[in-house]
Amino acid sequence: MKNLYRPIESVIEDIKDETPNIKTYRFRPKEPVTFEAGQFVELTVPGVGEAPFTPSSNPNVTETMEITIMEVGSVTDALAKMKVGDTVGIRGPYGKGYDLKDFEGREILIMGGGVGLAPLRSLILALFDDIDKYKKISIRYGARTPADIVYKDLLPKWEQMKNTEVLQTIDEPHPDWKGTVGVVTVLLDDLPLVTTVDVESLPFDPKTAIACVCGPPIMLKFVNMGLLDKGWNPENIFHSMERNMSCGLGKCGHCMMGEYYICKDGPVMTAAQVAKFEDPF
Ligand SMILES: Cc1cc2nc3c(=O)[nH]c(=O)nc-3n(C[C@H](O)[C@H](O)[C@H](O)COP(=O)(O)OP(=O)(O)OC[C@H]3O[C@@H](n4cnc5c(N)ncnc54)[C@H](O)[C@@H]3O)c2cc1C
Ligand code: FES
Repeated sequence: MKNLYRPIESVIEDIKDETPNIKTYRFRPKEPVTFEAGQFVELTVPGVGEAPFTPSSNPNVTETMEITIMEVGSVTDALAKMKVGDTVGIRGPYGKGYDLKDFEGREILIMGGGVGLAPLRSLILALFDDIDKYKKISIRYGARTPADIVYKDLLPKWEQMKNTEVLQTIDEPHPDWKGTVGVVTVLLDDLPLVTTVDVESLPFDPKTAIACVCGPPIMLKFVNMGLLDKGWNPENIFHSMERNMSCGLGKCGHCMMGEYYICKDGPVMTAAQVAKFEDPF
């Protein structure tokens, strides 16, 4: 049986700068690590510690794994100093991801803020692998400034995919930016507040469309409120919840929210699941 506590030695094969403080690392684990979009792994930097991350690569690729990581503290700063050829440990995957079978035949709204687009990238790539199964894919992304946009090279390519749109915004006006300005919730402005009976004329059918959201807690809070105001079904709004984690296996209690272990019952949780908590994000 697979030992989920044992980190698998993984060599850094490539490092790509996304923004001044975010990099995408491609790791080659000594044995393949399979995961579902939305699940997470624990990454160990030898001699420093470990931290949870959601892979940003295609879950259908198992020989390598990409993770897009923002420098915020001890593990992520140590990783940022590592070079191609250095080794880390990867254990997992843990938690629940997205049930893509359930997404089939529906419109899918993907909303990311900042580095929050990283965990959604594995979902986007998995959806693209079976693009005919989904009615529409709408990727909506907000970053602080043009320099903070991740996947600058990929976003225009994603826009070319069948039945796919990409909308972007930055927080404040900037001389290098000609597009939408405002926090990420401005990208919900095309969804009417009141659900009309003429569903055909709506960009999404709020009763059946899926929303997958990942970003800073404040963004999750306001996107959640916005979608509920626009009549979305809370069972169909999926948030990537972040908590400080330790074991990743529902044993230590570090990540508890009410009766939920975010590491085991999440990290992907619906608006319906978190509705009873006063401040779930
Ligand atoms: C399921 C899951 C998936 C994640 N996926 C990604 C990802 O794809 N890319 C990415 O860049 N980051 C991701 N994170 C966040 C990442 O785990 C933290 O940034 C990391 O643990 C920081 O470790 P550190 O040792 O560098 O920082 P530390 O030295 O531990 O802390 C630095 C600062 O970050 C805060 N912090 C630490 N951990 C967390 C956390 N989990 N949530 C919120 N604040 C925290 C601390 O309070 C402190 O202020 C994810 C977190 C979870 C729980
Ligand atoms: S991290 Fe240990 S119980 Fe969730």
